[in-house]
Amino acid sequence: MHHFIYKDNELYCESVAISDIAREVGTPFYLYSSATLTHHFNTFDKSFGELPHLTCFAVKSCSNLAVLRLFSTLGAGADIVSGGELYRSLKAGIGPRRIIYSGVGKTEEELRYGLVSDILMFNVESEQELERLQQVALEQDLVAPVSFRINPDVDPKTHAYISTGLAKNKFGIPIEQAEKIYLRARNMSHIKILGVSCHIGSQLTEISPFTETLQKVKLFINKLEAHGISIDYLDLGGGLGVRYLDEKPPHPQEYARALKDEMEGLECTLILEPGRVIVSNAGILISRVLYTKQTGTKNFIIVDAAMNDLARPSLYDAHHDILPVKKKAGQPDEESLQIVDVVGPICESGDFLARDRELPAFDQGDLMAVMSSGAYGFTMSSNYNSRPRAAEVLVKDDQFYIIRERENYETLIRDESIPDFLE
Ligand code: LLP
Repeated sequence: MHHFIYKDNELYCESVAISDIAREVGTPFYLYSSATLTHHFNTFDKSFGELPHLTCFAVKSCSNLAVLRLFSTLGAGADIVSGGELYRSLKAGIGPRRIIYSGVGKTEEELRYGLVSDILMFNVESEQELERLQQVALEQDLVAPVSFRINPDVDPKTHAYISTGLAKNKFGIPIEQAEKIYLRARNMSHIKILGVSCHIGSQLTEISPFTETLQKVKLFINKLEAHGISIDYLDLGGGLGVRYLDEKPPHPQEYARALKDEMEGLECTLILEPGRVIVSNAGILISRVLYTKQTGTKNFIIVDAAMNDLARPSLYDAHHDILPVKKKAGQPDEESLQIVDVVGPICESGDFLARDRELPAFDQGDLMAVMSSGAYGFTMSSNYNSRPRAAEVLVKDDQFYIIRERENYETLIRDESIPDFLE
């Protein structure tokens, strides 16, 4: 369910006409609906009902302070993967005891920052990271709460770039090596074992890889318990998919039901790290048509958003629906449909938002909505081609708020300097 709907052929976000926002903010911009964000978070979180659980929103999917604050008011925790994400999450008001820190390459400084911030736990991904964490904790005279991310070698059946739980992926500790590490960690003076974690991939559209993982983790927890190691938290990661085109991902309630069944008999608190399923369809990218041109072989629509704004089509060949912000009279009718490439101004042929797509006619100056862009949209944007990054806007009911100003030429070069010898 989302709140981007047409009224009289004009696309609205909740009760705000998107063209009104464009007039004031300019283009391109990301637009989020607070009603959709709230609905998605609550639907997910409440699906787990009475089962002891903590929903830690995956900050990497959409990390604007206002969005994090919204989730924080709904009781969310945060799944972070960098010092920067920790900083944002704390600034947004997410309590440190609701923050878990994942990622294969945490620096010493990041480990220290997490430790002194008193986060709930570190998902440790290698023996060397464990040793470094012990050292940092010793220096700080603190005890580091850890869970180890185990790699269960389960095929998530998703895009190769976003599958993380296969033996060949860089993530986690192979399940067969993990027991030894737990036994070692147990004897470390400044380490406290709290949990077991895993994350097998993103955009999963079936439940079975999750339940298969949970079964493997359960057996593993039993082994640990036989050694007298008790586990308080079982972190299953994120990964539930969404519909971009014709995928049929399970509803969060179906997903929750399957996990709850598997959790039967386990005493631990379940941690979930959803990103995409919460924010993807709660955000869109609004762009304006700069030019159209027909070559002998192609029809191009050249817009003012590009691969630096939304990398997913170029990077993963991902599909995002494209809609006109104002439908022209009679649209959509078969005759006005054309096969087009929607491309940005960047000097690369890989710079496209859609290829060989059947779309209604777009003319110069028209506004276009690139749907389902709330997850891994703005957060993956860059300044390539020295393009200032887009603005971000949040709508609530009939009001909109700029939650990130559009960058400008000044901000582009703010941190650069010319050394004396060149002056
Ligand atoms: N937890 C961990 C440890 C993760 O690495 C990720 C995502 C998540 C949770 C959240 O997964 P989600 O629920 O959003 O599927 N840029 C790619 C997706 C990369 C996902 C990376 N890890 C894309 O645009 O499709």
